[in-house]
Formats: sequence, C-alpha cells, structure tokens
Amino acid sequence: MAKSPRKSIGGFPTTRLRRLRYHPAVRGLVRETRLSPAQLVLPLFVRSGRNLRQPIASMPGHFQISPDQLAGEIQEAAELGLGGVILFGIPDEKDSLGSDSTSDQGIVQQAIQVAKQAAPQVLVITDVCFCEYTDHGHCGVINSRTGRVDVDNDATLELIGTQALSHVRAGADMVAPSGMMDGMVGAIRDRLDEAGFVHVPIMSYAAKYASAFYGPFREAAESAPQFGDRRGYQMDPAADPGQALREVELDLAEGADIVMVKPALAYLDIIRGVRDHFPGVPIAAYNVSGEFSMVKAAAERGWIDERTIALESLAAMQRAGAGILLTYWAKQAARWLA
Ligand code: PBG
Repeated sequence: MAKSPRKSIGGFPTTRLRRLRYHPAVRGLVRETRLSPAQLVLPLFVRSGRNLRQPIASMPGHFQISPDQLAGEIQEAAELGLGGVILFGIPDEKDSLGSDSTSDQGIVQQAIQVAKQAAPQVLVITDVCFCEYTDHGHCGVINSRTGRVDVDNDATLELIGTQALSHVRAGADMVAPSGMMDGMVGAIRDRLDEAGFVHVPIMSYAAKYASAFYGPFREAAESAPQFGDRRGYQMDPAADPGQALREVELDLAEGADIVMVKPALAYLDIIRGVRDHFPGVPIAAYNVSGEFSMVKAAAERGWIDERTIALESLAAMQRAGAGILLTYWAKQAARWLA
C-alpha cells in the first residue's frame, strides 16, 4: 500500500523541529550560544585596610576587600580561567575633585599593583570614573557656570586622562571609562599614546543608561550622588535607540577598542542594535548590580532557581551580541560551566 501523500512539502509533518531537541547531544550540536569562563569579567571593590572582607548587604557573596584580600581573589580568577577582573576603588578620603583617583598612591593604583603581582596573567581592567572618589558623588567636576549645578564635561576630561594614565602606569592592562562624558575616550587615548602606552586598549562604557539597576552598586562603592542624579550625562532609558548607536560611533572614532552596553538585561535590544550596525566590534555587556541582586533576593526566598536563571540571562546577553560579560556571577558561573 502506498504511503499517504504528504500534506505539504517542506512543512509539517515533513519538517519537525522537535527532532533537533530529542537527544541532548543533538541539542549540543545545534547550540550556538556557548558560555565560557574566558568571556567573564569579575567586578571587585577594593578599599584600604588589612584583612578586610566587609559584606555588601544587597549583593550576597560580594565584599569590599582590602588589597591583601585582593591577591586571593586574583588567584581564584586565574584558577577559574576568567577573562579578567574590573577594579573599583573606595578611597578613605573623598573631595570635590576625586583626588584619590588621580594619585599614584590611590587605592585603585595600590590594588592594581597587588593584582598584577598575585597572578600577572589575569587581565586587570579598571573603571575610570569619579563618582566613588568625589564627596558629591558625581562622575566629574561640578560647576555652576551654566547657571545650574552640573558636571563640567571638558574640565572633567583633563582629569579623566590623568586618572587613566595613572592606572596604566600602575599596571592596568585595560581601562574602562564609565562617566559618559563626551570626548572621554579620545582624551584617554591621547594621554596614553603620548606616554607611550599605545598598546593599552580602551573598553568604553559607550551606551550607559541612567538606570535604577545600579542601586546596589552605589552601596557597594559608596558612590550615590549627594544631590541630583546622573540624567544629565547618562542616557535616558526611553531615548531613541539610535542615540546608543551614535554614542558607539563616536567612541569608536575616538579610539575605543571595545564598546559596552549597560545595564544588560533590560537593554538586549541595544546590544543587538550595536551588533548589527558595527559588525566586528567587540561588545561587552554589564550585567549590573540590580540585575544580580534581584535574582539573589528571589532565589533566597525559593521563588526561582539562581543557577538556571543566571546562566539563562548570561546566554541571552551573548545571544543578543555581547561576547564579553561583566557579571557578579563570574566566579560561580565559571564553576557551573566546568
Ligand atoms: C561608575 C559606575 C557605576 C557602575 C559601574 N561603574 C555606577 C553608576 O554609574 O552610578 C554600576 C555597576 C553596577 O550597578 O553593577 N560610574
């Protein structure tokens, strides 16, 4: 007896996509997004002291640590094969110019030296910004010349260059300006090149939004603005997404080597837009503090499964186009993936 004719050529029942899902190995063969520890970057918060491991309440498993404790973290990062660490400093003294951040003896400069000694193969990236170092908590120098209190873009550029150069002189392998000042990438590139550091890459926080997802970080880094907010320099979440592309375009023209989108989870469309418009440009996504804390909080209540959600979220960021993931899950994720 002849087989019954197919209802349609190319469609169901000839085509059954579930055939690609039955066998775990087949799922593996057709899988495109694969996470690996080498793409993960771990943020670390360093402050002065000895034997300090001060828990950050809103970010379970994360601490403000003293430089001596940093050595252990860096060795762990090496053992886990992480792509790198990004350092944030919390100074003893804050002032209007964020002087600790530009001092060769500053907390982050000390931390860089410790990190490079502990395991030189671990990539040390530094966040280049002022909000942790200024008494007003803004990402630059304040002036009121414009008739309103504002961060002075061009006055800040001079200091940003000095800060970045100081990080690199201390041994930083890569610098990551996060202040959203116009011209910040170019200002840093000039200063690094003049000093002979032409080979040191810049990972720019190119499309960084004024986001409430940074809440826990501001506790961790003690960097909340003392007045006003950051909407005068960070991007409006509701802005035309094309504005993010303009930010990326300008940063690339100024010499950015890697561009970042931040936050990540609520901005996957932005990551995808950058990927489509700038093929070949490495994209980093910052899976920020609030994205981490909300999962932690729900997991602690037993409402969701932390591991599955974390890996699913990181995979989504990669699928959207980010090859580099800055995440507070870096160490855990590396273990989960092993
Ligand atoms: C510094 C900076 C911030 C974050 C990274 N670099 C805070 C901010 O802009 O207020 C946020 C990171 C996070 O939330 O995990 N400018």
